[in-house]
Amino acid sequence: MDTLKVDLGERSYPIYIGSGLLNQTELLTQHIQGQSALVVSNETIAPLYLNKLLPALEKFKSATCILPDGEQYKNLEVLNQIYTNLLEQHFDRKTTLIALGGGVVGDMTGFAAASYQRGINFIQIPTTLLAMVDSSVGGKTGVNHPLGKNMIGAFHQPQCVIIDTDTLDTLDDRELSAGLAEVIKYGLINDPDFFAWLEENMDKLLQRDKDALAYAIRRSCENKAAIVAADEREQGMRALLNLGHTFGHAIETGMGYGNWLHGEAVACGMMMAAEMSHRLGWINADKVEDVRKLLQKAKLPTKPPEQMIASDFLQLMAVDKKVIDGNLRLVLLKDIGKALVTADFSNEALSNTLQHCLAA
Ligand code: NAD
Ligand code: GLY
Repeated sequence: MDTLKVDLGERSYPIYIGSGLLNQTELLTQHIQGQSALVVSNETIAPLYLNKLLPALEKFKSATCILPDGEQYKNLEVLNQIYTNLLEQHFDRKTTLIALGGGVVGDMTGFAAASYQRGINFIQIPTTLLAMVDSSVGGKTGVNHPLGKNMIGAFHQPQCVIIDTDTLDTLDDRELSAGLAEVIKYGLINDPDFFAWLEENMDKLLQRDKDALAYAIRRSCENKAAIVAADEREQGMRALLNLGHTFGHAIETGMGYGNWLHGEAVACGMMMAAEMSHRLGWINADKVEDVRKLLQKAKLPTKPPEQMIASDFLQLMAVDKKVIDGNLRLVLLKDIGKALVTADFSNEALSNTLQHCLAA
């Protein structure tokens, strides 16, 4: 087992990464501070993995809350099911919520924990690659609004993150690729050596080589933990983690939640960010092709959906969380492994990029 630390002073917490961790009951129980715990999962994941947690919960008052599966259920209405469950069963403010699932379950459970009785503890047990390398770490929690992705939420850090890499055995190939988008993101943001490693090892990752996956998860979590420790509330460099997300969120919202997977939309968004960086003269065409080749190797989309037009993007991107005082900021590339957050581009450069990508 590897143990990393998210260093946030009194809110610091460990990330455990390894095989068979769901069987190590004390790993979970040592982080449950009160007498009670509610496991939140969904109808797909609970039948696969809930039983593994039950021995650890024997000495606690415990219950489960099973949500419907899908990004389209990541909303305030479904979130209410968690509050109702907690209230009906008299769970108090010493209760720990346990998120067992992908990013949707993790974000919703985290937001329920941030808001129930003004804040209770929670634990992340991510079961998708995407949740292992990104959403379970760093304390961003929330739900979607019909007008914008992840627009309702809070920062709330978990007590720990338990990554049992064996859970990836049941994840389908499309979801594995979606997780690889966020892995590639770390290489593009500030880790060029990792980008080169991914170019060499993408086949192994797709073949689910255990050592390669464990390495990619650890390196991604190290990258994320360092950025979160430096800028927990996204006052500066944490925004780099949104590379590809402004374009990507527009795709997710524009196409209807759940039609494009989050990782797929981010992959296409990173491609669009690379194209725009090239149009601004910041990276050469070879680098754009390197990005495209790696995303394609990971079986990820690099072209935006045909159903969307430039004005759809512009309208949806205008509600991005990086908009400040009406000014859109984007995460773009000065190089592979060197991203920056910038408003230093013309509307024309953005329009040209959209036209180019949509025509491709
Ligand atoms: P997801 O949670 O919808 O999971 C993908 C699918 O895989 C679901 O159908 C799920 O039931 C299934 N699944 C999960 N684990 C499985 C397993 N081990 N075996 C078989 N099936 C399994 O999607 P995701 O990609 O994990 O997460 C995407 C969400 O995460 C988005 O809502 C996105 O906004 C959010 N996100 C949040 C952050 C953050 O910092 N909080 C970062 C990135 C993404
Ligand atoms: N996934 C973006 C962040 O955690 O900041």
